[in-house]
Amino acid sequence: MGDLSIRRIEPDDEAGLLAWRGLMREGCTADRTAAWWQSPDTTLTQFAHPRADKRDIALLASLGDEAIGGAEVNIVTDAPADVELTVLPDHRRRGFGTVIARAVEELLAGQASIVQTETYSSAGIAFAESRGLVVGNQEDRLLLDLPGYLTADANRYKKDSTSPPSPAPPDLGPDMAITSWIGGCPEEIVEDWAGLREQMDEDVPLGDLTRHLKHADANALRTHEERMDEQGWILVSSLAHVDDLPVGYTEIMVSRHEPDIVIQEDTLVDRGYRGRGIGRALKVANMRQVHSVPEAASARWIQTYTAANNAPMLALNRDLGFATVDTMTALEGKVDLAS
Ligand SMILES: CC(C)(COP(=O)(O)OP(=O)(O)OC[C@H]1O[C@@H](n2cnc3c(N)ncnc32)[C@H](O)[C@@H]1OP(=O)(O)O)[C@@H](O)C(=O)NCCC(=O)NCCS
Repeated sequence: MGDLSIRRIEPDDEAGLLAWRGLMREGCTADRTAAWWQSPDTTLTQFAHPRADKRDIALLASLGDEAIGGAEVNIVTDAPADVELTVLPDHRRRGFGTVIARAVEELLAGQASIVQTETYSSAGIAFAESRGLVVGNQEDRLLLDLPGYLTADANRYKKDSTSPPSPAPPDLGPDMAITSWIGGCPEEIVEDWAGLREQMDEDVPLGDLTRHLKHADANALRTHEERMDEQGWILVSSLAHVDDLPVGYTEIMVSRHEPDIVIQEDTLVDRGYRGRGIGRALKVANMRQVHSVPEAASARWIQTYTAANNAPMLALNRDLGFATVDTMTALEGKVDLAS
């Protein structure tokens, strides 16, 4: 094995960050179908304007002049650190991943107590386990053909339509109302939305992973909206009320820079209101809004993640036309356990 040198890319080194991002994308998405990766512009903004509670570190590993691997380390105050690590396919099983992992572990020592990582391959799972991490959760990654879905939805009531009908939202009765918006949440429901997002943090199935509860008040939400806009994200959201009570929400994110894959983010329905079709109604209403986002005109896929054991959400997603393309495995370990 030749000597591997590992260097940290400075947050203002735009060319270095772009080269690093390209390598991370290549290594982490090799052999995957329609894999999503953060756009170059979003990466530059992320490093130029770090979140107040987060440190992002980019490491590039080279053999001589040739970059062959890298890592992204996110150290978050009072939360597990996130690590993404890769070695390009031609250089695997030669111990380079281990060398990069040791550099990451040195960086994390004293900075975080728990580390988490995500992978889509058995090699990635075996590798993370070789560093002392254990599997904490698995989620299916699902894709939906967005133009196909929207065409079928628009043609649902046309008699001569050749497209298969998309499922109609059920009649939820007069007490349920959905508010949909693009961009910033309307002021009159921002407190409702903040409350539901906090509930989502508590409810989302995480398997054995350590749960980190963020306090998301209305101010924090506005900061989040500004950051997302700065990074090129258009937020497309819908919130359900039963009478005056907020009972659920869903959110889609469209990247201005790379709209090919649109991201279906969180969907939550309050426990007391599940099984009444509110989740479906929210998702259908929100996907219809994507029609009115000009940047999404060229979108090919909508992507979502659902925990492998979340049967109701998997069933709903499949019914809407989503299909599983691969499985994400999340692993976790104590920082001082790895050696
Ligand atoms: C995971 C990855 C970084 C491993 O890089 P690597 O340089 O091949 O890893 P190493 O050679 O240092 O392997 C260290 C140990 O990991 C385990 N391992 C790595 N690849 C493996 C594979 N294909 N099958 C089984 N075990 C594997 C083994 O225990 C190995 O030790 P050994 O070679 O003595 O048996 C690389 O496959 C990769 O980039 N995958 C895509 C991204 C990813 O999933 N990253 C992991 C989480 S962020």
